[in-house]
Amino acid sequence: MPGQSWLRVVAWRIATPRRLAPLARWRSRMRASWTRYMRFLSCFRLRRPSSARHPREQEADDVGVLSFANGSSGTDAMMINVLPASIEDRPVLAHLLELYGHDISEFDGRDVGEHGLYGYHYLDHYWTEPGRHPFLVRVDGRLAGFALVSIRVLSDEPVGHVSEFFVMRKYRRMGAGEVIARDVFRRFPGRWRVSQSSGNLPAQRFWRAVVGRMTLGVYTEGHDEVGRTTLEFDSSAGAD
Ligand SMILES: CC(C)(COP(=O)(O)OP(=O)(O)OC[C@H]1O[C@@H](n2cnc3c(N)ncnc32)[C@H](O)[C@@H]1OP(=O)(O)O)[C@@H](O)C(=O)NCCC(=O)NCCS
Repeated sequence: MPGQSWLRVVAWRIATPRRLAPLARWRSRMRASWTRYMRFLSCFRLRRPSSARHPREQEADDVGVLSFANGSSGTDAMMINVLPASIEDRPVLAHLLELYGHDISEFDGRDVGEHGLYGYHYLDHYWTEPGRHPFLVRVDGRLAGFALVSIRVLSDEPVGHVSEFFVMRKYRRMGAGEVIARDVFRRFPGRWRVSQSSGNLPAQRFWRAVVGRMTLGVYTEGHDEVGRTTLEFDSSAGAD
C-alpha cells in the first residue's frame, strides 16, 4: 500500500540518527586522539637561552614555538609559529593592523583617516616601552596574524593583557587562534586579564572558549569601566 511505504520512510528517518550514534562516538574518540597526538608533538620547541628579566617575561625570548592545529577537515595539520616581532617587522605589523582595524571597525565603529588608513597609535611603543611584546604568527610559513601583549604592574602584581589579537580570515575556525593564545599565555605564566568590546560577540565567544578550556573553567568574567567584557585567570594553573 502507498500509505505503508510512506510510514516506512518516516520510521527510517526517525531511526537513522540512533543508528549513526556509534559512528559519531567513534569520530569524537578519533578527534580526541588526534588532539592528544598534536599536543605531544607541540612539546618539541625551538628555543634560545633567555636573558635575566622578569620571570614572566623570560619565555618571550623564544625564537619560535612550533605548535599544531588540525585543519577544519580534522586531517590536515597546520604548523603554527608564534614569533617575537623585531623592529624590522614593524611595517609588516602595521599592514596587518590595517586588516585587523577593518575587521574590528564592524564592532567599534572606527573610521579610516584621510589617507585611507586606520593607523595604530601604540605601535612604536612595542619596541620602546618595557612590558610590551609584539608577536607575528606564521601558519605553514606564511603570515597569518599577530598578538600584541602588554604586561602591566597592577597593585604590585604583573598582569598580562592581550591588547590586540588577530587571525587572518583564511585561517579562522581551525583552532589556530586557540593555539596562538595558549602559546602566548604559556610564555608569561601568571595573572591575565583579556577584554573584548561589548559588540564583538565572536571575540567574546572565542576567549570564553579558549580560557575556559585552558583553565578548566577557573576564570572570572566581568566588565570593566568602559563596558568591555573581561575574563581574569591565572595561566600557570589549568589544563596545560
Ligand atoms: C577571534 C579570532 C581571533 C578567532 O580566531 P580563530 O582562529 O578563528 O579561533 P579558533 O578556531 O581557535 O576558535 C577556538 C574556539 O573559539 C570559538 N570561536 C572562535 N571564533 C568564533 C566565532 N566567530 N563565533 C563563535 N565562536 C567562535 C569556538 O568555540 C572555537 O572552538 P570550536 O571551533 O571548537 O567551536 C578571529 O576570528 C579574529 O582574528 N577576529 C578578528 C579580530 C578580533 O576580533 N580579535 C579579538 C579581539 S579581542
